[in-house]
Amino acid sequence: MDKKRKTERYKRVIIQIKELMQETTDPFARMSTIASILHHKFDYFFWTGFYRLVNGELTVGCYQGSVACLVLAKHKGVCWIAIDQKKIQIIPDVHKFPGHIACDSRSISEIVILIYKDKEIVAVLDVDSKELDSFDEIDTKYLEIIVEMIYTS
Ligand code: SME
Repeated sequence: MDKKRKTERYKRVIIQIKELMQETTDPFARMSTIASILHHKFDYFFWTGFYRLVNGELTVGCYQGSVACLVLAKHKGVCWIAIDQKKIQIIPDVHKFPGHIACDSRSISEIVILIYKDKEIVAVLDVDSKELDSFDEIDTKYLEIIVEMIYTS
């Protein structure tokens, strides 16, 4: 998707999500809604969902797409590296990323966004694409704005 279309799409999606977030502050309902909207509005989102830190384990939350690993091996893979480095990860080609955890071999590129509650990382938003190099600074910017809404009243 070209950068202009992508930006416009995110701007529209953010308006829709903002409106829906007013219906409840429940984080589970909010994450489910965000996963559904993002997954259906962006063609290149092949797997769209959340992993939550539950008793120190990255455990799958609401998602859209093919069946995913329920619990991720600790300190391995893109989601754990994002948490360990406290840094968003954009992986243009997962095959070149040592330790990548492939829940579905069709995933080729990936982005992981950190989710904070009271300044603590509590979860990540993980999106996979079947194409190479799908994610860029536009996805980062808008996905960060979107996940911030989860724990904002
Ligand atoms: N690829 C992720 C695992 C989750 S799946 O992509 C849904 C990782 O390496 O942490």
